[in-house]
Amino acid sequence: MRAWVESIAERARSRLGQGRVADYIPALARQEADRFGIAIYTNEGELYTAGDAREAFSIQSISKLFLLTLSLRVFGNALWERVGLNPSGMPFNSLTQLEVERGKPRNPFINAGAIVVTDHLVSAFATPSQYLQDVARRLSGDNRVLIDREVLESEWQHRSRNAAMAYLMKAFGNIDNEVDDVLYAYFACCALGMSCADLAVALNYLAASGYSLQAQEQIVEPELARKINSILFTSGMYDAAGEFAYRVGLPAKSGVGGGIAAIVPGRMSVCVWSPALDINGNSVAGQYALELLANELG
Ligand code: DON
Repeated sequence: MRAWVESIAERARSRLGQGRVADYIPALARQEADRFGIAIYTNEGELYTAGDAREAFSIQSISKLFLLTLSLRVFGNALWERVGLNPSGMPFNSLTQLEVERGKPRNPFINAGAIVVTDHLVSAFATPSQYLQDVARRLSGDNRVLIDREVLESEWQHRSRNAAMAYLMKAFGNIDNEVDDVLYAYFACCALGMSCADLAVALNYLAASGYSLQAQEQIVEPELARKINSILFTSGMYDAAGEFAYRVGLPAKSGVGGGIAAIVPGRMSVCVWSPALDINGNSVAGQYALELLANELG
């Protein structure tokens, strides 16, 4: 297993040099494009890593998975009155469907959907981003997990597009709290810094019928874990979800920091990281590593 993970890393590095590091959030542009890490955490609790797997990076949209899990735990199916369950076929930060569909985002993994989920959590918790940081620490077992203040401030400074979505949804009555409070909490969650090893361990509950071995806790019921994996499968990779499903066939969530977390239900959770992205905002080398993994895992 260890040699196999090393060999995936080595082959995935052949894709370094393709794609571009996200720069619409200036603090992310400082990332070095030639980094690559991979971590696999099996349902038996064994961790295998290669490359830069222990280095914290900005998890960005992977946080939408934690946000969704927490919201479903607190509010259950009531969430689906405010957020849809279908792929958007649009970029993750698109505004066009929101107006036509009267402020109800297509799914919880596009930015607009995650902003509604965050609004839920702002209603439920006094300090939602602090709560999410605590959850991420407990699920990963890493107490150094932190919100990166520089990334948070950078997102806040460049918030126009997300603010436009949030105000449009507020106009349609789909945001309860002050837009600034919701946006700040959303950016704080996106700005969490975690490593591939942290994320592979933290998200293993989705591979293990909702049970976190690290936290020794049933995080969600098995049925809900299966449903979250289904949403990941159809919407986790944005408008590339279909192509990714064809190439890899695993439920997965990407972030513009270059991370992708993938779930092999019943077996393992995987996280890859490499900052250079394709036009859909998904890591180039990361996707290739997952393609190799899926092919060779059968
Ligand atoms: O709101 C944003 O645009 C970022 N904080 C997160 C976007 C993201 O990671 C999309 N994923 N590929």
